[in-house]
Amino acid sequence: MSKSNLLLELYSNLSTTGAVTFSSKALVSKMVSHADLSHAKLIIEMGGGDGSITQGIIDKMNPDAELLVFEINSSFCKVMEDQFDLKNVKIINDSAENLEQYLDGRKVDYIFSSLPFSLMPKNSTDAILRISNHSLSKGGAFIQICYSYLLKSLFKKYFNKVEVSFTMKNFPPAFVMMCKDE
Ligand SMILES: C[S@@+](CC[C@H](N)C(=O)[O-])C[C@H]1O[C@@H](n2cnc3c(N)ncnc32)[C@H](O)[C@@H]1O
Repeated sequence: MSKSNLLLELYSNLSTTGAVTFSSKALVSKMVSHADLSHAKLIIEMGGGDGSITQGIIDKMNPDAELLVFEINSSFCKVMEDQFDLKNVKIINDSAENLEQYLDGRKVDYIFSSLPFSLMPKNSTDAILRISNHSLSKGGAFIQICYSYLLKSLFKKYFNKVEVSFTMKNFPPAFVMMCKDE
């Protein structure tokens, strides 16, 4: 799928994508810089989209680590399956709500999310954030990009510590929220 068709798919599904463009390289780089991926064994991405964040994670992760990418849009999944034909990267065409079914009891080092929580039903948001917190290993982090600072109060309900950073180098300018339990 061409870049313009990917954008059309994103734009045509605004109620589930919550974005008019994909994340910029600068935003992805800021997001990934919050994690020590060289020591991570199991990494989750929620809301893979065109694979822009996926690529940023793959560039930094250890070749022995495993990355599971959740994405509900089957067209985006097909694009990512073609782009990331790697043994340790699994593209999962399912909602992030079902994360636990894919873990076989394992704990996760980092969860990267670009899910549009401000548009999602409260019960889905609650399920995803609760499962995310429960699935993280000690010292692990849930790292979210979002366009509104107000979402910090949502993440504070599930994580003890939320550190916020910001970049203008994205359209729209975006926040990265690094959420941890300490
Ligand atoms: C804001 S877009 C981000 C796309 C890309 N990761 C980026 O940063 O440009 C959010 C993505 O989350 C996906 N999504 C929405 N709800 C989801 C859910 N419950 N589980 C998994 N993916 C979901 C959408 O289809 C969309 O691709």
